[in-house]
Amino acid sequence: VWGSREFDNHEQVCFFSDEATGLRAIVAIHSTALGPAAGGTRFKLYANDSEAVDDALRLSRAMSYKSALAGLPVGGGKAVIIGDPARLKTRALLHAFGRYVDRIGRHFATGEDVGISVADIETMNEVTPFVAGTSAGAGDPSVHTATGVMHGLRAVLERRFGKSDFTGMKIAVQGLGAVGWGVAQRVHDAGAQLVVADVREEVVARAVDRLGAISVPTARIHASDVDIYVPCALGGVVTERTAGEIRAGAVAGAANNQLATAAAGLALAERGILFAPDYVINAGGVISGLEACSAMPGRSLAQFAPLDESLAAIHDRLIEIFDRADREKRTPEATAEQMARELIGR
Ligand code: NAI
Repeated sequence: VWGSREFDNHEQVCFFSDEATGLRAIVAIHSTALGPAAGGTRFKLYANDSEAVDDALRLSRAMSYKSALAGLPVGGGKAVIIGDPARLKTRALLHAFGRYVDRIGRHFATGEDVGISVADIETMNEVTPFVAGTSAGAGDPSVHTATGVMHGLRAVLERRFGKSDFTGMKIAVQGLGAVGWGVAQRVHDAGAQLVVADVREEVVARAVDRLGAISVPTARIHASDVDIYVPCALGGVVTERTAGEIRAGAVAGAANNQLATAAAGLALAERGILFAPDYVINAGGVISGLEACSAMPGRSLAQFAPLDESLAAIHDRLIEIFDRADREKRTPEATAEQMARELIGR
């Protein structure tokens, strides 16, 4: 990792350890050009330390891009705690980590990610104000993520199908979890026909029953005969192979890192399938978290637009990305990255 381009791109990387609690953590701050860095803490067992550093660097850069394109006055950062949370996570360890976050001070604020719950953030909050996502804040981010995805889907409807509403559209939702269920319910209410898949049979049965959805096998949902494929489960679902099997005219959903490779993105573009860059359309959660952040001591994020306006702006941002991608003959994801870099000045 040392000396790699990825490392050079970061403003600050901190390594923390606390022998008493077994804490080993990394905080990576990619950019504070637009404001204090914000990003979740991931608590995970890594194969080795270099994999953990890599994750922190990659995820903090992604946060810079995501927040910049969401129009937020914050930068990008991310923390990882190395180890198995089931074995290591204690109150004392979370306090030790919280004290290190406090030491970084007003340049970094953190929240939930894989392995870190709302209760864990509240424990950290006992020793530092620099956390967001407590239950006293904006609450469950997935609700806002689903709303943001709906704004993004409207942009896709307009741009790809020349339509302003969902009536008569067929939409495949992969994953009926916190975000996917919210999106399925909303597109159903807006008049779309749903195709769904989930590994949990009970949620699929509920969608069939309550939302009139058609159920398909999880391994084939991407190839459904629909207008829009909405991945809301795992990342990496668009590969060069699956891109060739997608029959939808657009791929637009909440799942992080949907494109397995840049080549998969190109394969979509070559087949005329419109792709909504995931970190743009799924920014509703981070947008809602920052509202809570603005109440924190030492922050002055008063320049926030109201939450509903910030969520609605996801539509306009996507239209801007699609237009520019067309003009510059690039994929939407390459265009989004370029726009984010311009916003943060690198
Ligand atoms: P969740 O864990 O509540 O839901 C995921 C759903 O996908 C579950 O119902 C699960 O059973 C299902 N699933 C798992 N494997 C599957 C498979 N192979 N095929 C079909 N379904 C499968 O997670 P959540 O919060 O709804 O997030 C969904 C995606 O959106 C994730 O990729 C997440 O990273 C991303 N995301 C979520 C945000 C949020 O606010 N919750 C914000 C931004 C991104």
